[in-house]
Amino acid sequence: MGKLQDKVAVITGGASGIGAATARLFVSEGAKVVLVDLNEEKGKAFEKELKTLNAEALFIKANITSEEDVANIFKQTVEAFGTVDVVFNNAGIGRVHPSHDLEYSEWRNTVNVDLDGVFLVARESIREMLETGGGTIVNTASMYGWVGSPGSAAYNAAKGGVINLTRSLALEYADKNIRVNSLCPGFIDTPIIPEDDKQTLAGMTPMKRLGLADEMAKAVLFMASDDSSYMTGNSLIVDGGYTAQ
Ligand SMILES: NC(=O)c1ccc[n+]([C@@H]2O[C@H](COP(=O)([O-])OP(=O)(O)OC[C@H]3O[C@@H](n4cnc5c(N)ncnc54)[C@H](O)[C@@H]3O)[C@@H](O)[C@H]2O)c1
Repeated sequence: MGKLQDKVAVITGGASGIGAATARLFVSEGAKVVLVDLNEEKGKAFEKELKTLNAEALFIKANITSEEDVANIFKQTVEAFGTVDVVFNNAGIGRVHPSHDLEYSEWRNTVNVDLDGVFLVARESIREMLETGGGTIVNTASMYGWVGSPGSAAYNAAKGGVINLTRSLALEYADKNIRVNSLCPGFIDTPIIPEDDKQTLAGMTPMKRLGLADEMAKAVLFMASDDSSYMTGNSLIVDGGYTAQ
C-alpha cells in the first residue's frame, strides 16, 4: 500500500520542476494525479509519460488567476476521478527586479499569481473537501516568505502572504478534517532559476548546493499524507540551511 493509495491529488504547476517531481512521487505512492498548468505542451507530454508508467493521470490547462479556470479544474477532476483528496497548490512565478524601478503592473502580476491564485485554488479545494469530508492542502510558499532579499519585493510579499494564509485557513477548517500546510523551499534546481544564477545561489547556501525537486517532493508527500496527521497551519522550510544563517 502506498502512502496515497487511490487518493486523488490535484497539483498546480504540475508540468515542471517541484510540481512534476511531486506528481512522480505521488504516483509511485498510489495516487491518481491531476496536473494543472498554463504550459499545455509540457503538461500533455508529462501526462502521456505518466500514463505509460500505468499511472492514472489527467492534464488540465488552467490559469490559477482565473476564477473560471480554477472552478473548472475541480469540476473536471470530480468528473474524471470522483473526488479530491489532496491539493498541492504550487504554481508560481518569480523575477528579480529593483523595487524602485518595478512597474506596478509587474507587482500586480506577481502578487496575482503567487498569492491571489493560491487563494483561489485553496478556496475551491476547501469547497470540494467540505462536501466530501476532508482532505489535505499543501501551499508552496518560499524561504523568502520568512526572510527578505533585494530585488524580489513582490515575490517575497506574496510568499509571506501564503504563509499566513496557510495559518488562517488551517485554523478555520481544523475541525472539518481539512489540514493546510505550506512548503518553503530554498534555492531549488528547476527552470524558474536562470542557469547563470545557479552557481551564485548554491554559494549563498550553507550546504553549498541547490536543492533538488525530488527533495521538495518528499516534504510535500509528508504534509499531504497521514504521516503528518497532527500537523496543520505549519510551514516546512527545506532550504539547505539558508534561513538558519
Ligand atoms: N525553484 C526554487 O528555487 C523555488 C524556491 C522557492 C519557492 N519556489 C516555488 O515553487 C513553486 C514551483 O516552482 P518551480 O521551482 O517548480 O518552477 P517551475 O517554473 O519549474 O514550475 C512552475 C510551474 O507553474 C506554472 N505556472 C506559472 N504560472 C501559472 C498560472 N498562472 N497558472 C497555472 N500554472 C502556472 C508554470 O507554467 C510552471 O510549469 C513556485 O510557487 C515557486 O515560487 C521555487
